[in-house]
Amino acid sequence: MSSLTIRTYPDPVLKGESPPVESIDDRIRRLLDDMAETMYLNNGIGLAAPQVGERARLIVVDVQRGEAGDTLLKLINPRIVDKQGETKSEEGCLSCPDLLVEVKRFETVTVEALLPDGEETTIEADGLLAICLQHEIDHLDGVLLVDRLSSLRRNLYQKKRIKEDSKPPDEEPHSPDASL
Ligand code: NI
Repeated sequence: MSSLTIRTYPDPVLKGESPPVESIDDRIRRLLDDMAETMYLNNGIGLAAPQVGERARLIVVDVQRGEAGDTLLKLINPRIVDKQGETKSEEGCLSCPDLLVEVKRFETVTVEALLPDGEETTIEADGLLAICLQHEIDHLDGVLLVDRLSSLRRNLYQKKRIKEDSKPPDEEPHSPDASL
């Protein structure tokens, strides 16, 4: 496994819709493994393929951060097939450093996806897992936390990001509590 570079806003790879994975091969399985390693190394609880520069419908999620046994989900072509209720919480994102946004989500979701061995799976999620799954699937549709800001706040954030990107990379290590 190897750790990948996380792309940050306004990297264009984060925008736009990712196409579905047509066939699950070793390259896809390796990419999922590398995404999981990258997520853990960056203290994240979820990561989507566009965040490592790959336009493909792949996500990894572990809201327990590997601390509660094997709770890692590696999902291919995930889609929400049922949703209920409403909840609101502050979300962070590894691709949007230093940004917290209050987001309204469905409280429970049912997600269908394929597993790395090609088997179909159905996940009924609530709480943080439901929020995280919705956040990661947003990434596959090119939707970022910044898209939920007013245009004024988005412009300010974009200017700040462009300034940060021109700084030496060892400044301001970013370690949020939970980024998705
Ligand atoms: Ni994110």
